[in-house]
Amino acid sequence: MTNRYFIKKPIARIQEEFAQGQLKRTLGPWNLVSLGIGCIIGAGIFVLTGKAAAQYAGPAIVYSFMLSGLACAFAALCYAELASVLPVSGSAYTYAYATLGEVIAWAMGWLLVLEYGLSAATVAVGWSGYIVSFLKDFGLVIPPELTSPYFNMVDDPAHVGQRIMAATGHFNLPAFLGIMGVTSLLVVGVSESAKVNNVIVCIKLAVIVTFIAIGAFYVDTANWHPFIPENTGPNQYGFPGILRAAGVIFFAYVGFEAVSTAGQEAQNPQKDMPIGILGSLAVCTLLYIAVSLVLTGIVHYSKLNVPDPIAVAVDAIGLGWLSFIIKIGAIMGLTSVMLVLCYGQTRIFYMMGKDGLIPKLFCAIHPKFRTPWINTILVGLVVGVAAGATPIDVLGDLVSMGTLFAFCIVCFSVIYLRCKQPDLVRPFRAPGGMVTPILGILLCGYLIWGIGGIVFVTLRWYFIGGIVLYFLYGQFHSVLHKEQK
Ligand code: ALA
Repeated sequence: MTNRYFIKKPIARIQEEFAQGQLKRTLGPWNLVSLGIGCIIGAGIFVLTGKAAAQYAGPAIVYSFMLSGLACAFAALCYAELASVLPVSGSAYTYAYATLGEVIAWAMGWLLVLEYGLSAATVAVGWSGYIVSFLKDFGLVIPPELTSPYFNMVDDPAHVGQRIMAATGHFNLPAFLGIMGVTSLLVVGVSESAKVNNVIVCIKLAVIVTFIAIGAFYVDTANWHPFIPENTGPNQYGFPGILRAAGVIFFAYVGFEAVSTAGQEAQNPQKDMPIGILGSLAVCTLLYIAVSLVLTGIVHYSKLNVPDPIAVAVDAIGLGWLSFIIKIGAIMGLTSVMLVLCYGQTRIFYMMGKDGLIPKLFCAIHPKFRTPWINTILVGLVVGVAAGATPIDVLGDLVSMGTLFAFCIVCFSVIYLRCKQPDLVRPFRAPGGMVTPILGILLCGYLIWGIGGIVFVTLRWYFIGGIVLYFLYGQFHSVLHKEQK
């Protein structure tokens, strides 16, 4: 009976589907690195870095970036190994279906909703912060109650350093509208065009490198003292703060595995996918460390809890023109991340619909635009409302924790596959034997523990809800079950 829930999609069949793929193979290694960077650099560095430095780590946010980057590196090596064996669309969901079985694949799909859908909502809130600030520069002020969710996290006046939920506004309208705009583009079929993506990535990188290069001259090293502020309460500075901040800014790395969803469009997936995944992660880690050093060197960390910290730092050194360019770069960059994340979410639902685990409605194709339009509109509405009604801190933490769990499953899949099918041809093998996936699980688990508390409880209910749905719907409609019967 339990076998029924752990039924696996044969690897040979997935590879066959891959060989018959209809998509054009146009993406070379640089396109894949660029695809990764396009999805990685977003609200994490443009927004959450400031909040994490101000609330948890101070200048030691640099160590948080190193810690999170290390956890991602181990997971990335595991992704690269699986992507070279199973170069298909659908990413971690497909890996889980092929290795650990259907119910785990379902759980993975359910976690990926956090990684893609809820990430898109988080990025939309960051996008809204930069849009509001940009419009304000032109004298256009959006009423604050329309740029904030009903409940938001604020400093507790009764307990210094603690944060509580309080009614602050009505709805974050720009964030909602941003997602609606992206949804409309996806319905008519503007998805990740490699050329457009390359241009946006260049703009994003230019903005960040300019900030680092110019900002470095304005660093006041007094702002780095003490580099690790003394611990003043639970998760507030000191080592506990660094760990907590590592969980927050883990969000900044989410997206490197988006490269693995492009398997069917890569020219030489076995070789190029590992380059795309590891290359984009390496570039972003170096940039993040440099940005956080310069940011906390220009402005004292206590002043960085704002929606647009990088623009605030540039304003502080009096370079109005640079602040303007940074806002435009951030808005364009964040738009592309929202687009890629929403696109990824719809394609994962499309795969799950094809496998019968969610209703076929998610696979309905628009007769004219040839896109999964109902799927896209439903995803857009849910993500848009989440973006409008939820504080960015809460969204970011949920995404980080959900994604960390997904990474643990991916690392475990590598261990499982190496034990069960040791002779399978692996064009890329994560170095270090079993040590790499084991360290991946341990480090990701450590970051989950650091985020802790209330986020874990919310996630537990989310997870239980997902499993109930599988037992009510997925198990009865699974295409694989029907075929095997
Ligand atoms: N890593 C992406 C970002 O920071 C999701 O926006």
